[in-house]
Amino acid sequence: MDKIKLAAVSAFGLEAVVKRELRDLGYENAATENGWIYFDAEIKDIPKSNINLRCADRVMLVMGQFEAYSFEELFDKTYDLPWEKWITRDGRFTVKGKSVKSKLHSTPDCQSIVKKAVSKKLCEEYDVDWMPETGAEFTILVSIHKDVATISIDTTGAREGLFKRGYKTKSTEAPLKETMAAALVKLSFWNKNRVLYDPMCGSGTIAIEAALIGMNIAPGLNRTFASQGWPLVKEEYWKSAKIEARRKIDLNSHIKIYASDISKKAIHIAKENAIEAGVDDCIEFFAKDVLKINEPMCPNGILITNPPYGERMGDIGEIKKIHRKLGHTFGKDKTWSVYIITSVGSLERDFGRKADRKRKLFNGDVRVDYYQFFGEKPKKTTDNFNF
Ligand SMILES: C[S@@+](CC[C@H](N)C(=O)[O-])C[C@H]1O[C@@H](n2cnc3c(N)ncnc32)[C@H](O)[C@@H]1O
Repeated sequence: MDKIKLAAVSAFGLEAVVKRELRDLGYENAATENGWIYFDAEIKDIPKSNINLRCADRVMLVMGQFEAYSFEELFDKTYDLPWEKWITRDGRFTVKGKSVKSKLHSTPDCQSIVKKAVSKKLCEEYDVDWMPETGAEFTILVSIHKDVATISIDTTGAREGLFKRGYKTKSTEAPLKETMAAALVKLSFWNKNRVLYDPMCGSGTIAIEAALIGMNIAPGLNRTFASQGWPLVKEEYWKSAKIEARRKIDLNSHIKIYASDISKKAIHIAKENAIEAGVDDCIEFFAKDVLKINEPMCPNGILITNPPYGERMGDIGEIKKIHRKLGHTFGKDKTWSVYIITSVGSLERDFGRKADRKRKLFNGDVRVDYYQFFGEKPKKTTDNFNF
């Protein structure tokens, strides 16, 4: 079986979560380098990792890694890679690039050199004058860091990163990416024996991702990937990865997830998304102003939320009021753990407690912190209790 090197690409701050996911999938040797998590694999692992990874943005096939101080060196070493093994005679290939702290700093020039080298190699291999580029998609990335070039092909799909699960038919304002929401749940160490609550659920991303995690439903079961069009990644590999993922689904889990929002429209959208994801049975949605919640619905819950932040989403006075209320209602209850993602620096002051842990993350381009306020460990499973 062909040995290959794959790399999971994640948002800044989520590398450890993705590494843990890879370990859980059986990739013991995953190693992080400059934000990418590399792992040794076989071709059948392209479907397996794409279908199962919840928190990574995409999976790259690493074609080669080498030092490049000049364009000639970049051209020659790129040309030497086995492109014909992967890219078909009619393959459509585009080249993206980035360069950090390197002599070859002009990204457009690096992209064009790599494109030329790949074209030359393929034209020679296929004995043609030009490549028609009418077939499957191959998005090549040339990424240069401190003069070391990593050349890879995107197995996921350039336009549709792994965050696209296929269930979000509609969104509310400032939705979290599904990959980020899944990571927030994973970082909270929530398990299906605990109640999970998002009181500002918007389009429902956190609640839906938690339900998928709770029922062990692989996030990529209902979408397609660029490498599905690659001959080497055989149809049978996709089929068996899907069969294996489906076998692991646990529909009998007794999961209790609550999700509310002040906006009735948001609740309507969140419900539709949950139906689309097939997890509406285990999430109770309701419209509620968080400022009017005076006590938690039960003991021992886990609150994970993404309150409004930034000018677009509301007045800072209102936002601070929400933070104070969360601290008063849930922060003071020793049995609840509270997890809040926000860019507002005064969160701890308003919440009324210093976070037990704070993790620096990026939500898109926005620098945010994930504040973690731990509660006591529960002694037994919680009971249900409605508002
Ligand atoms: C940043 S968005 C949450 C996005 C959500 N995580 C998602 O993925 O779609 C913040 C949400 O807080 C809600 N919100 C604002 N003020 C609220 C309040 N007082 N009570 C409850 N929800 C509120 C907004 O309606 C909005 O949906």
